Parts: sequence; structure tokens; C-alpha cells
Amino acid sequence: MDSLLSICDIKEDVLNIIDLACDIKADKKEEKPLEGKTLAMIFQKSSTRTRVSFDVGMYQLGGRAIFLSSNDLQMGRGEPISDTARVLSRFVDGIMIRAIEHDDVIELAKYSDVPVISGLTNLEHPCQVLADVLTIKEHFGSFENKKICFAGDGNNVCNSLLLIAPLLGMDMSVACPKGYEPNEDILKIAQEYAKENNTEIVISDNLNVALDNVDVVYTDVWVSMGDEAEKAQREIDLAPFQVNQELMNLANDGAIFMHCLPAVRGQEVSAEVIDGPQSVIYDQAENRLHAQKAVLYYYLKD
Ligand code: CP
Ligand code: NVA
Repeated sequence: MDSLLSICDIKEDVLNIIDLACDIKADKKEEKPLEGKTLAMIFQKSSTRTRVSFDVGMYQLGGRAIFLSSNDLQMGRGEPISDTARVLSRFVDGIMIRAIEHDDVIELAKYSDVPVISGLTNLEHPCQVLADVLTIKEHFGSFENKKICFAGDGNNVCNSLLLIAPLLGMDMSVACPKGYEPNEDILKIAQEYAKENNTEIVISDNLNVALDNVDVVYTDVWVSMGDEAEKAQREIDLAPFQVNQELMNLANDGAIFMHCLPAVRGQEVSAEVIDGPQSVIYDQAENRLHAQKAVLYYYLKD
């Protein structure tokens, strides 16, 4: 069964899903295409946007969603993931999961007879970056000649952005201190995609290099869920990569600021930037709903 665990899983279909999201947002698709369908949503970590947008998305498409906190599931008490996958597959039409370990999501998908959609793991956040590129397309009209710079911790969101940017013909840079680079395996795949699509990927701890000719400046928290024990060290190491007005001024005129949220003002981004005129964070958050409805339509519609 096809699942969405990584941007690699939709390598050939990214543009179709974005077009679908645009049509859904413009109300151009049929009403209630998922009538009678049910989505199980397993959360091992906190969520506002992902949880609410999947729930509302299913409702708006005519189906329903069931929220399952992993603390309340037998899985949280040690029931094998394989049994959970097989049993849920008998009840529901799709499973969305926000998991601590990416490998657990791979295991769930392996034993599931229905599509599994990742709502974030330690490695990737594919649904987030679909909403992000939809926002970029809406803002600039196209992806042509656009370049994204991710500044800060080379985390799950950064990994998914690295994969999706070259597939859409965009250049990408990551401005991060040594030791905070994106996942090596993901970077290798992203570099292959960049080669295939004639785009460029640059990883640098030099802000002037990473911010050269940039249209989108993106950042995310320095302390992701699960990294709390390293908080103090991360705050020291990542401080020079805070997205403030001085850093934004290194990007192109007309550059926008993006953040997947939740944000910590005064850490990875200054209040002046995130609440300023270049910020598109609330359009980006709204697009989680439209992009996710496209993903649900794509995976769950007969
Ligand atoms: N951006 C995002 O995934 O937000 P939540 O953690 O609130 O779902
Ligand atoms: N990198 C963050 C994203 C939250 C949406 C985390 O994993 O906590």
C-alpha cells in the first residue's frame, strides 16, 4: 500500500499534489469525496496544526478522523506496531501518525493494508513542506529561479525541504553551525535530485554564503521535540544563526520569512521578523489544511 513517510515517496507526484491543493483551496473539486472514510490519527508527540488540520480536513472532505494518543493505545503499553497496523487496517481507511522514531513509522506502514501518512518524525515532516511550497507558489506565482535558505538546526523540517526544493526546480541552502547539518542520507538523496533537476544545494556555516540570492528565509526551533536535554548547548551553538532583521537584509529584496511553527521569539527568530511585513507564517499555517486535504484526497479517495 502506498504511504507518505518521506518526500521521496511522492517524488513523481509532488506537482500533482500541489495542483490538487490549489484546486481544493479554490473549491474546484467535488464535494465530500471522502464520504464514509475514516482516518486514525496516532500522536506520540504534541501537536496543534497537524492534529487540527487533519481533523478539519477529513471533516470538510466528508469523512471523519479519530484522535488516538499513544498513551491511550495498547501500543503505548508495548503492543507490537505490526499488530496495531494490522488491526487498525481492518477498521479505518488511512492512518496518520506523528511518531518519535521514523523507523516505527516504516514498521507501521510495512504491516498496514491502508495508506500511512507521516505527520512528523525525528527525520522528516513531509506534510509541512507541501504546505510550505504551496505558500511559496502562491506568493511568487511560480518556483522558477527561487531559492530557499533554511537557517538554524538541520532538523526534520530542513530535511524535507532539502528533498522537495530540487524536485520543484528551486535552489536551497542551509546555514547552520558545524554539528547541526541535515541528515547525511537525506542530503545525498537531495543532491541526486538537485543534479537531476539542475538545481543547487549549499550547506554552509557562513551566513553571507548561505544567504546569497535568497528569496525565502526559513527557520525552525533550535530545540525540537525530543531534543530537550540538549537545550542549553543548542542555545549557545545556534545563537549566531538567529533570523533577525540583519540576517533578513542579506536576502533578496522582496524575500519572505517562513516558519513551520510553533516558534520561540527571541531564539531562532526575532519578534521583529516573525511579526513583521516579510513574514507569511499564518498563510503558511493555513495552507497545512489545504495541502493535507490534497494528501488525503490523493491517498484515500477510491
Ligand atoms: N508545524 C506543525 O507541525 O505544528 P504542530 O506541531 O502544531 O502540529
Ligand atoms: N522541528 C520541530 C517541528 C515541530 C513542528 C520538532 O520536531 O519539534
